[in-house]
Amino acid sequence: MAIRNIVQEGDPLLRKISKPVEAFDDRLATLLDDMKDTVKKAKGAGLAGPQVGVLKRVCVIDLPEGYYEFVNPVILSEKGKQKGQEGCLSVRGKFGYVVRPKQVTVEYYNRLGEKQTVVAEGFFARACCHEIDHLDGVLYVDKASEVWFDK
Ligand code: NI
Repeated sequence: MAIRNIVQEGDPLLRKISKPVEAFDDRLATLLDDMKDTVKKAKGAGLAGPQVGVLKRVCVIDLPEGYYEFVNPVILSEKGKQKGQEGCLSVRGKFGYVVRPKQVTVEYYNRLGEKQTVVAEGFFARACCHEIDHLDGVLYVDKASEVWFDK
């Protein structure tokens, strides 16, 4: 259990493509435990591997719908569109409007290496897209129609 440092915009790590997880071992469990502590401490909706300097395809999502750990997530399908506000723990103080699918079906592995599927809607769908983008070096500010500073 440890809080990890959150990499900030401008750091090249956030622009790299993350590699799939191959070993569902203690190291992965420690990473996911630390990411949970880190996202909760920062009061974020989600956090991806590159944001803690680990270029692995892992992300966590913390919303009223539940706490999710996605390993090697893939968006299988998407439906509809929604425009809404986003922020990012790696882009401090900024917010923006981004168009995302209204619903996504995500396939992923849990920390035990078991394949799972979840259908996410609304802000949950938005969070899935945002976090999975991080694994491909994409930040929401790249897609935002408007970005503003908020103190
Ligand atoms: Ni983010």
